[in-house]
Amino acid sequence: MLQIHQNVSLKNFNTFGIDASARYFVEIAHEDELTELFLDPQWKTTERLVLGGGSNLLLTQDFDGLVIRMNIRSIEHRINHNEVFVEAGAGEVWNDFVNYCVGWQFAGVENMSLIPGSVGASPIQNIGAYGVELKDVFDTCRAFEIATGEFKTFTKADCRFGYRESVFKQKKGEYIIVSVKFTLSLTPNINTRYGAIEQELANRGISNPTIKDISQVVSHIRVSKLPDPSTIGNAGSFFKNPVITADAFNPIQNKYPDIVNFPGGDGLVKLAAGWMIEQCGWKGKVVGHTGTWKNQALVLVNHGGATGQEVYALSSQIIDSVYSKFGVMLEREVNIL
Ligand code: FAD
Ligand code: EPU
Repeated sequence: MLQIHQNVSLKNFNTFGIDASARYFVEIAHEDELTELFLDPQWKTTERLVLGGGSNLLLTQDFDGLVIRMNIRSIEHRINHNEVFVEAGAGEVWNDFVNYCVGWQFAGVENMSLIPGSVGASPIQNIGAYGVELKDVFDTCRAFEIATGEFKTFTKADCRFGYRESVFKQKKGEYIIVSVKFTLSLTPNINTRYGAIEQELANRGISNPTIKDISQVVSHIRVSKLPDPSTIGNAGSFFKNPVITADAFNPIQNKYPDIVNFPGGDGLVKLAAGWMIEQCGWKGKVVGHTGTWKNQALVLVNHGGATGQEVYALSSQIIDSVYSKFGVMLEREVNIL
C-alpha cells in the first residue's frame, strides 16, 4: 500500500537546501506503484513534481501538490561481444551508476563522473560534462505516461536530445522515467578533448589513461571548481551557455575580443555564460544569503538561510546585467518551481 505523506519538508530533497514543503509526498520504489498511484483519479488532476536528487531545482515557494520521489533501484548489464547494455532504475544515484560502469570497465560514462542527481533525471536535460553528453551513451528509456497509465519505450530519436534539451522538457509533466538503458563499450574511446583533462593528466604524469584515470581526473577538476552541495547549497550551472548565430556573435566579439566561445554546431557559437557573468563583476559576490560561487560564476549558491525567491531575484539581476553589457539574454538551466 502506497504511503502518501502530508506537509513534508523538502529541505533535504533539494541541493540548494531551500526550506520549502510539499503538501503531499510519495516515494516510488517499484514501477507498479505508479500504476497504483494513478488509479486514484485525484493524482491525475493534482499538480505534480517528479523528484530525483533535487540537484537541478529551485523551490521558490511551498509546493501545494504531490511530490513523486523516484527511488527505483536496480542496475543490470548484458554483454554482447564488445558492446555492453547497462540498464539502471530511475532512483539510482547517477554517480553510483558511473562507478558501477567504471568498476566493470564499461567505457562511455567516465567523463560524466560526479554529476549529482539520479539516473532517471539524466535524459531530462541530456546531462553532459567534459566533452560527453548523455545522448552519446543513451540507448532507450522506459517511461510511465500519466495520461494513459501505460509504460512506453523512448528511443534516442524519440528523445530529441539537444544541448540541455530533450522531449521530456518540452512535454513537461507528461512522463515519468522509470529506467534508462545505456550502450557502453568494452573498448575505451578515451576522450581528453576538454583542456583541463589533458592538463591534469600531465600533472599526474599519465600518458595512457584508463577510464578509471579519466573518472578520477574529472572528479578532481569538478571538486576544484564546483561547490559541494552538502556544505554550500547550489544546483550546478544556473544558466545555460547561450548558443547564438555567427551574425549575432561577430559584433560582440569585435567589442569584446577575449569573449570565451566554442563551436555550437551547425555554424552556431556557444558562449561561456560564466565568463560573461564574471565580466559583469558578479564572480564570488555575496548578495544577502545568496551569491555566485568564487571559482565558477555560473553557479549560484545558498550561503545559508536563502529563500528560493532570493536566489531567483539574484538570477534576474544577473540576466539584466549580462544583457545590458553583451546584448545576450541568459536562459535559466535550473528548473524553477
Ligand atoms: P531533479 O533536480 O530531482 O529534477 C530535475 C528535473 O527533472 C525536474 O524537472 C524533475 O521533475 C525532472 N525529473 C527528475 N526525475 C525524473 C524522472 N524520473 N522522470 C521524469 N522527470 C524527472 N548537470 C549537467 O548536465 N552537467 C553537469 O556537469 C552538472 N554539474 C552539476 C554540479 C552540481 C554541484 C550540481 C548541484 C548540479 C549539477 N548538474 C549538472 C545538474 C544536475 O546534476 C542534473 O541536472 C541532474 O540530472 C539532476 O538530477 P536530479 O535527480 O537531481 O533531478
Ligand atoms: N569561465 C570564466 N569565469 C567563470 C566560469 C567560467 O571565465 O566564472 C570560463 C572558463 O575559464 C572557461 C569557460 O568559461 O574558459 C567554460 O567554463 P567551464 O569549463 O567551467 O564550463 P562551463 O561552460 O561554465 C559547462 C556546463 C557544466 C559542466 C562543464 C564541464 C553548462 C551550462 N554548464 O560549464 O555543467 O560541468 O561545462 O563540461 O553547460 C551544470 O549543467 O550544472 C554543469 C555544472
